[in-house]
Amino acid sequence: MRLGGLALGLAFGIGLLVGVPGDAQVKIPPDFGFEKGKDSPGPVTFSHEKHKEKAEKCTACHTKVFKMKKGTSGTQTMAAMKEGKFCGNCHDGKTELGGKVVFAVEAKDNCEKCHKK
Ligand code: HEC
Ligand code: HEC
Ligand code: HEC
Repeated sequence: MRLGGLALGLAFGIGLLVGVPGDAQVKIPPDFGFEKGKDSPGPVTFSHEKHKEKAEKCTACHTKVFKMKKGTSGTQTMAAMKEGKFCGNCHDGKTELGGKVVFAVEAKDNCEKCHKK
């Protein structure tokens, strides 16, 4: 697992440096959902497009926070996020990116920003 992540990270780094033939960068994937955990209040869609504008660098998430393959980063529980893992790495109500404090996972008003009904 660790080696796999490292290899992916390296492949990605090299991809950025030398460029993929016919393509300046690794393409960002279209929006996708996550497998719903028990009691999840609703499906969560993650948008690379929106995060590209806001979090800018791929390295803000890859590969320290998220691996570069869907469903390989571990079980995303809210408890882990509250400890600063996964989405909670930025969505903690403290981290500032692009001059804005990123909304927190904990706040009740924010559940629906990620979990759609
Ligand atoms: C805000 C966090 C974040 C940023 C920034 C980010 N990603 Fe991702 N990326 C994710 C998440 C979350 C996943 C899914 C990981 C999982 O399910 O384990 C992912 C997965 C991927 C995948 C695999 C998709 C698949 O179908 O398996 C690729 C390719 C990818 N990202 C490319 C990029 C590139 C290129 C950039 C920079 C332009 C980027 N990402 C920036 C969060 C991010
Ligand atoms: C920044 C985005 C985000 C916010 C905000 C957020 N969640 Fe989540 N949550 C996720 C993701 C991603 C998952 C994993 C996919 C799933 O289970 O639907 C998840 C999973 C869950 C789960 C199932 C896993 C577990 O921990 O038991 C519950 C329950 C949950 N969220 C409740 C909440 C509640 C309640 C709120 C508001 C206080 C909230 N979430 C706010 C992104 C978020
Ligand atoms: C590298 C930091 C970072 C990580 C990790 C991250 N986000 Fe974000 N996200 C941001 C920033 C910055 C914004 C824009 C500021 C805001 O809206 O508070 C944002 C905004 C959002 C928005 C609102 C988008 C809009 O404008 O409609 C959603 C929904 C969201 N994130 C979901 C997620 C989910 C789900 C995850 C985990 C799978 C995640 N984010 C992980 C930085 C991050």
